[in-house]
Amino acid sequence: MKAEEIDFYSLGFEFIETEAMFVSDYKEGKWDEGRIVPFGPFEISPGACVLNYGQGVFEGMKALKTKFGEIVLFRPEENAKRLNESASRLLMPSFDTEGFINAVKKVVKANENYVPPYDSGGALYIRPILIGTGPILGVAPATEYKMIIFTIPVGPYFPEGFKAIDLEISKKYTRAAPGGTGSSKTCCNYAGTMKPAKETKAKGFAQIIYLDAANMEYIDEVGTANFFAVINGKLSTPMLKGTILPGITRNSVLELASKNLNMEVEERDISYKELFTESCTEAFCTGTAAVITPIGTITLENNKKTFNNCEPGDITKKLYDLLTGIQRLEIEDPYGWIEKV
Ligand code: PLP
Ligand code: COI
Repeated sequence: MKAEEIDFYSLGFEFIETEAMFVSDYKEGKWDEGRIVPFGPFEISPGACVLNYGQGVFEGMKALKTKFGEIVLFRPEENAKRLNESASRLLMPSFDTEGFINAVKKVVKANENYVPPYDSGGALYIRPILIGTGPILGVAPATEYKMIIFTIPVGPYFPEGFKAIDLEISKKYTRAAPGGTGSSKTCCNYAGTMKPAKETKAKGFAQIIYLDAANMEYIDEVGTANFFAVINGKLSTPMLKGTILPGITRNSVLELASKNLNMEVEERDISYKELFTESCTEAFCTGTAAVITPIGTITLENNKKTFNNCEPGDITKKLYDLLTGIQRLEIEDPYGWIEKV
């Protein structure tokens, strides 16, 4: 789609093609230099490992426009690191961190016209994918890979925007199990969440809160975001134990809460039962796409908890203002999180 035809003020999270993408190929044990090419389809063998055995990982990041018209990235090095951690879990080759950040910057520059204006609240979503393209029959890693980085202009992931969403705790489905791939951003982790998401949406919920598969007791995360709750005045989030994606927004929010808000923060097992007690006063989820999304209600079967009349809580709001303020450079970035394109 041509940039001129886009209404940046009413974007959701739909797929919109932009002009350019980055492609790099891995053959004979090394990555080539990579290049910017027009966005479009490419050929792949039907025997490609990613098509048959799901050997693919991805990342999600955003380029934002600041008040001053600059285009900035948020902690791109963390995405580079996580991409390599995910790749390592699927026996895929790693990609040089600096090369990754440069490639991301090149793609964003090539699609500059698609970065939504500052006052629209939108972003240019950046999607790096790393896939096993080499054909393989026995279940084993491919010998050839592709790294592709493409972009899509987006508005909020949850159409409600910075409004509270309704979530359902599932006792029927799990997302990840101990020893599995839950802490890696593998494509397959998401395939299994589509059916649960469809079913919960049909009941009027925005997403599912997954419990830990081992006990069906402790909160893992939301289908596409990490989970936070304010319990007894402390900011609590499920600890990383291999089944949860180590969110970059999650890590940033923990830092903002402890350093900027002087809050006590804790990473621990959180029983779903705690959410239904009076000590739990706020809940929200975090992610690149979700940013900070307040949770209005949490339902498990016949139990329903409503937070703050479905309005964003004070702490949620403060953290949202801090995070988005730093991300768009409205507030000075004391952490060195922002990188100009
Ligand atoms: N959890 C899952 C399953 C996700 O898909 C995402 C999104 O990337 C997150 C958590 C949040 O991670 P981040 O804050 O790095 O975007
Ligand atoms: C992100 O927040 O970037 C994600 O990857 C979530 C998503 C799968 C849309």
